[in-house]
Amino acid sequence: MNKDIYLTGITTTGTPHIGNYVGAIRPGIAASRDPSIRNFYFLADLHALAKNEDPDAISRSTLEIAAAWLALGLDTNKATFYRQSDIPEIPELTWILTSMTAKGLMNRAHAYKAAVQANLDSDNADPDKGITMALYSYPILMSADILMFNATKVPVGRDQKQHVEMARDIAQRFNHHYGELFVLPEPVIDDNTAVLAGLDGRKMSKSYQNTIPLFAPEKALRKLIMKIKTNSLEPGEPKDTEGSTLFDIYKAFATPDETADIAARYADGIAWGEMKKLLFEYVNDHIRPAREEYERLMADPASVEAELRKGAERARSIARPFLDRIRDAVGIRSLATMG
Ligand code: TRP
Repeated sequence: MNKDIYLTGITTTGTPHIGNYVGAIRPGIAASRDPSIRNFYFLADLHALAKNEDPDAISRSTLEIAAAWLALGLDTNKATFYRQSDIPEIPELTWILTSMTAKGLMNRAHAYKAAVQANLDSDNADPDKGITMALYSYPILMSADILMFNATKVPVGRDQKQHVEMARDIAQRFNHHYGELFVLPEPVIDDNTAVLAGLDGRKMSKSYQNTIPLFAPEKALRKLIMKIKTNSLEPGEPKDTEGSTLFDIYKAFATPDETADIAARYADGIAWGEMKKLLFEYVNDHIRPAREEYERLMADPASVEAELRKGAERARSIARPFLDRIRDAVGIRSLATMG
C-alpha cells in the first residue's frame, strides 16, 4: 500500500501562540516522526496576502512560524518543510483549477459568506465591500496546495474542513474531464487535540487578541499567565477543573499523573494565585530549551531561509514533473511535439 501523504499549511499571520503549539505544531512534529506517513508542512504566505496584512508583518510572521517549527524539533529531512511562495507551480496550478471551478462553488464558501453577511448586517450598500478576489477564491489556492502533492490526508481545524471538501470536489471534476491525475484528499479533524482558551476564556485566537505567544520571554510569559481570567472563588474553596483555562493549559503540557495531582488540588481549594504561579513555572520549564533555540534562529534568519530553500527544492522536484503532466492534460503543450 502507498504511504499516506499528510499535508497542511500555516497562514503566515501573527506570532505562534500556545494554542497553535498544542493544536497544530506539536501533533505535526509527532506525525513527522511516524515512518508510515509522508509529511508536507508549508508556510502559506500567499494565503496571508489575502488577509490584507502589512508587508513587514507577513515576512516577520513567516520567520517566526518557521523558526518555531524548527526550534521545536521538526526534522526537515523527514518532513518536507517549505514556503508556498517558493513553489511557482502552485499559483500556476491555481489558475488551471480556477479555469474549471464553478463560481457557484465559491459562493458557498463559509468565509466569503460570513464577509458578505457582515456587510449586510452593517447596512453596507455593497454586500461585497472590502472583499478581494483573493478572499473569494482562497479555496482554489488552497486546493492547488493540496492537489499539487497528491495529499491523502489534510489535518485542519474545523473552520477549514469545507475548504478541503472543495479541493476534493475540484479534483473530482478535473479528473472527470481530463483523466485521473489527482488523488482525492480527506480532511482530518482531530477531536483529541486540545482547543485552548485564551486570556479572556474565549478560544485562543489572534483575532480575539487573547493569545499567549509560545516563545514570549520569561517575564512577559509570567505577566500574561497572571492575567488569565478565573472566577472569584477564594483560596480554600473547592474549584471546578471543568471550564478552567488555567487547568486546560496545564493539562495540555503536563503528563496525565501530574494533571491528576492538580485536579486533586483544585478539589482542595488551591488559590488562583498559587495555580497561576505553578502554571507559569511548568510551562516556562517546558518551553525553555526550545525558546533558546528559537531565539538563536530569530537572530540568524539566513539559516531559516536556507532550511526553507532546501524544502522548496524538494517540493519542486515533485511539483514540477507533476505540473508538466497537468499542463499536457489541459492542452498547454510544446508545439514541437505536435504534428
Ligand atoms: N487556510 C488554512 C488556514 O488558514 C491554511 C492553509 C493554506 C492550508 N493552504 C492549506 C491548510 C492547505 C491545509 C492545506 O488555516
